[in-house]
Amino acid sequence: MPNIISIKNLSKTYASGFRALKGINLDIKRGEIFALLGPNGAGKTTLIGITCGILQPTGGSVTVDGHDIINDFRAARSLIGLVPQELHTDAFESVWATVNFSRGLFNKPKNPAYVEKILRSLSLWDKKDSRIMTLSGGMKRRVLIAKALSHEPQVLFLDEPTAGVDVELRKDMWQVVRELRDAGVTIILTTHYIEEAQDMADRVGIINKGEIILVEEKAELMHKLGKKHLTLYLQQKLDVLPPALAAHALTLSPDGTELIFSYDTQAERTGVTRMLAAVGDAGIRFKDLQTQQSSLEDIFVGLVSDRS
Ligand SMILES: Nc1ncnc2c1ncn2[C@@H]1O[C@H](COP(=O)(O)OP(=O)(O)OP(=O)(O)O)[C@@H](O)[C@H]1O
Ligand SMILES: [Mg+2]
Repeated sequence: MPNIISIKNLSKTYASGFRALKGINLDIKRGEIFALLGPNGAGKTTLIGITCGILQPTGGSVTVDGHDIINDFRAARSLIGLVPQELHTDAFESVWATVNFSRGLFNKPKNPAYVEKILRSLSLWDKKDSRIMTLSGGMKRRVLIAKALSHEPQVLFLDEPTAGVDVELRKDMWQVVRELRDAGVTIILTTHYIEEAQDMADRVGIINKGEIILVEEKAELMHKLGKKHLTLYLQQKLDVLPPALAAHALTLSPDGTELIFSYDTQAERTGVTRMLAAVGDAGIRFKDLQTQQSSLEDIFVGLVSDRS
């Protein structure tokens, strides 16, 4: 079965009457890194909470490797590791005890070598005897990851794993995630650092106001929606865009020193050659030029703001 998680018509209405999820359909492929992006309050944590059996759905179904999360909860849950968004840890315990205890909760036999491997990969080995309350926020988050991995899950949910983690450690964490993926673990992550999703994800889903508004291969998404901007740095300032150039998708920067040309990388004709010829014919000289591709973040902001 290529899909490891299958979510059908999933809805969630909280006791307050708030509809946090409105008929979500989503399949997660085995072995992929899937980034779920969405603004605050979009429903990401709710969706993850239901899939992990922490929250009850109002309607619809979720299966994990064919196991229904309600009728076959134990089997479904044992396949999942969850790194929650909120930091909850057993503050008085040591790192070592906590991670081993988590493993025990899933009835897995003790495996100190495996737990050691996880702690080393998360740079927590030298903290193994420290009480969790004495650790920094970023270290606590790594302890949560170690706990989530303690029972060797096939699917790992990471809900904002890098919030409050410094740049160096974030890199290390993503390295761990890549290694897990290489070992066959399916990863579903949320992040507000969209450039991380751009770096990491195989596919991207965007959720807004309880609805999935897009699911796409990341490369395809960037290819399809990506616009490029070509900036010409002018030798001499212009006061206005010469009328002869009006037919081209050019804008003059407010200070008059740059001309910016926007084009669709997908188009059969981008118009770059004609535009450059027209600029030359207009007697405009430039000292340098640069192209920029829109980022996943630009695409995300465009999609989400269109719908709000
Ligand atoms: N227990 C609850 N009772 C009522 N409403 C809730 C409850 N938990 C969450 N909500 C609401 O449901 C919506 C979705 O919340 P959720 O935590 O799933 O969003 P999110 O996408 O994870 O946001 P963030 O990016 O801020 O983590 C929000 O509007 C939130 O206020
Ligand atoms: Mg959340």
